[in-house]
Parts: sequence; C-alpha cells; structure tokens
Amino acid sequence: MSETGKNMDEVRDLAPRSPLPAPSSPSTPRSPLPATSSSNVLEIQDLKVYFNTIEGELRAVDGVGFSMRRGKVMALVGESGCGKSVTSYSILRLIQSPGKIVGGSMMFYPHDEKPSDIAKLSDNDELIYHIRGGKISMIFQEPMTALSPVHTVGNQICEAILIHQKVTKKEAEIKAIEMLRKVGISGPEKRISQYPFEMSGGMRQRVMIAMALVCNPEILIADEPTTALDVTIQAQIMLLMKNLQKELGTSILLITHDLGVVAQMADDVAVMYLGKIVECSDVRSILKSPRHPYTMGLLASLPGLAMDKQRLHSIKGSVPSLTAIPPGCPFHPRCEYFKPGLCDVGNPPPLEEIEPGHTAACLRAREIRGEVGKF
Ligand SMILES: Nc1ncnc2c1ncn2[C@@H]1O[C@H](COP(=O)(O)OP(=O)(O)OP(=O)(O)O)[C@@H](O)[C@H]1O
Ligand code: SF4
Ligand SMILES: [Mg+2]
Repeated sequence: MSETGKNMDEVRDLAPRSPLPAPSSPSTPRSPLPATSSSNVLEIQDLKVYFNTIEGELRAVDGVGFSMRRGKVMALVGESGCGKSVTSYSILRLIQSPGKIVGGSMMFYPHDEKPSDIAKLSDNDELIYHIRGGKISMIFQEPMTALSPVHTVGNQICEAILIHQKVTKKEAEIKAIEMLRKVGISGPEKRISQYPFEMSGGMRQRVMIAMALVCNPEILIADEPTTALDVTIQAQIMLLMKNLQKELGTSILLITHDLGVVAQMADDVAVMYLGKIVECSDVRSILKSPRHPYTMGLLASLPGLAMDKQRLHSIKGSVPSLTAIPPGCPFHPRCEYFKPGLCDVGNPPPLEEIEPGHTAACLRAREIRGEVGKF
C-alpha cells in the first residue's frame, strides 16, 4: 500500500464518529456515516446548477445533496439527462455559460489541508487550479476528447505531474512510466512516446486513469468510464479501478447508469432523477431493499438483479423535459405506486430517512418496499 493509502486508512480508522446525525436540509440525504469532516471527504448540500436557455431556465441540478465517505466508492446513478455529469463538472468547477452554480455548498475535506467550499470559490481562484487535477481528478467517458491528439501520452502525464508536484522533468518521466505500468500497460518505456491515436480504446482509457491518479488525488470522478469500450475490456478497466482505489485509498465518485457495475464497485449509492437525488444509501440496502419506485424500476430492468426473474421490466414512459417538470412528485407519471391527489400535488417530496442511513424522496416509501431476491 502506498504511503498515501496508509495515511488515509489511519485517518479513517482514527476518525471520531459523531454520535449525532449531521445537520442536513430536507433535500439533503444523510451519508451512510455521520457527516463529519474526518469521515467524509466531500459533503454536497442543496447544490443548484441552472442553465439559461432559449426555452427558459433549465434546472439541471436542483437541490442535490450527498456525502462521499473517505476512501469509499460512491455511485451516482440515473437515466440519461438526469444531471449526473453536470453534478460532477460542478465539483471541478467546469460548468460554463449558459450554466451557473446558483446555490448550495460543496465542502471538500482534504486530509492534509484546510477544508474549502468549492461552490463558493471564484472561477479563477488559485485554489480551484490546485484542487482540479491535483486533489480531485476526473476520467471521462471518451478518452479521445480528453487526451490531446498532438502530444505523446508521456508528455501529457508528465505535464499533469509537473503542474501539481515539485519534481524535475526526469523524475516526472519516471513517475509516468511507473503509473503506466500500474495501470497494466506493458512496455511503458516505449509506450510513453506514443500518441493516443496509436493505442486501442482500452489502452487509452488506461492512460486516462494513469493521468488521473498520478498525482494521488483524494477524489477520482469517473464519468461513465467504460461505456465506449467492449464488454470484456469494461470488466478489466473496472477491476483495475477497484484495485487501484484500494491500493491508493482514493475516494471515487462513479457515474454510471449500469447497476451491475454499481453492485460490483460501489460502497454507497445515490440515485438521481430529474436533477434531484431520490434515494441514497449504502449499496447493500439499496440493492436489497430499494425504497423509491424509481430505484425499484431501475433494478427490475437489470438482468441478474431483476426482482422478477422471469420477466425484465422497463420503467414506463420516458424522462420528461427539465422545462416541463410535473407537479408534486416528478416521477408520478411513470410510477406504478402513484396515488392521485397525493403524489401529483404540492412540492416534490423531500428526501427523508426511511431507515438509519437510508433516505428516499417518496411519499409512500414507508408502505412500499422493493425486495430483490438475491444480492
Ligand atoms: N451546456 C448546456 N446547455 C444547456 N443544457 C445543458 C448543458 N449541459 C447539460 N445540459 C442539460 O442538463 C441536463 C443534465 O445533463 P447531464 O449531462 O448532467 O445528464 P447525465 O445524467 O450526465 O446524462 P447522460 O447519462 O446521458 O450522460 C440535461 O437536460 C442536459 O440537456
Ligand atoms: S411519491 Fe408517489 S408517485 Fe412519487 S415515487 Fe412515491 S409513490 Fe411514486
Ligand atoms: Mg453524463
């Protein structure tokens, strides 16, 4: 285990556990652990990110809150367009006009530095350049859009090292070679002088992972990291990420729509629908006993985890436009448990604790319960 991994384990093990639940707004789910700066690496509360479009104000992220436990994998899941990527870009302050963070907080607790509220930093604050790529890094769905086609992979990894660490070019090159070896690239001394287009998709994704992890970030954001790859390579890359996460002690925010990947990789899960978190818990509770009908629908449509093994379900209807969100519970037009007069009136249901550490934004969460036969 690396020195960093050891330190983080020590921090985690020595961290005092607060007996009291963390203060939270109604729209903010509690972490599976009490929210304290020592046990959580990131605490997002009531995050709002809106886009000014010609169709009007589009509330892509509307009151999102969750906490990431230090050294653990938090999965953010939900259908296309629900706001997963916008949430993750906000953490790195990568939202560009016409988008804007209009409210909320994102408290980041590095283990060796002062905490900071990323939401409150200005776009060109020095601290955000220090955090981005150094303390929090990201791997994207399609490596070709994130890697420069005109620079060798070695130059790109070395540049990331030289920006964030006080080392010589030679030392940076040695680190880059070590990291490429760690992510399973054979002959890294030769590969380092190749361009991304000379590599396969799987290899490029490994290079991205190497680039993201080479500065030992505290948080790695992985936005659909394997969907562009074929199934066998997907499994290899996920295993690699899991092993590196354990070895380095990195906390991962894994964005995916694949609950199979969640079952293999995650410790905690937050489910998003139409810009809001609708359910949040540790992975076992959410997969074994989901409490929000949307999560139940996602699980029922997953081969292998489906509640009814004979028949795969699909959630009826489609995700409505963010400019025409239904009144009451935003999920009500698609919900099998919809109750007229209850679910289609008033404000969206707030996230409430249904069981210790398990929150759901459903008015009927206490009376309905999804049971997944096997997990
Ligand atoms: N630059 C932009 N201008 C206007 N709307 C945007 C912009 N970027 C994102 N959005 C909108 O914000 C909403 C959330 O988008 P986001 O990319 O976060 O979805 P997602 O959950 O990551 O979906 P996917 O699974 O398809 O990647 C979508 O309705 C999208 O159209
Ligand atoms: S509040 Fe009603 S419509 Fe919304 S998820 Fe719960 S049961 Fe379904
Ligand atoms: Mg996305």
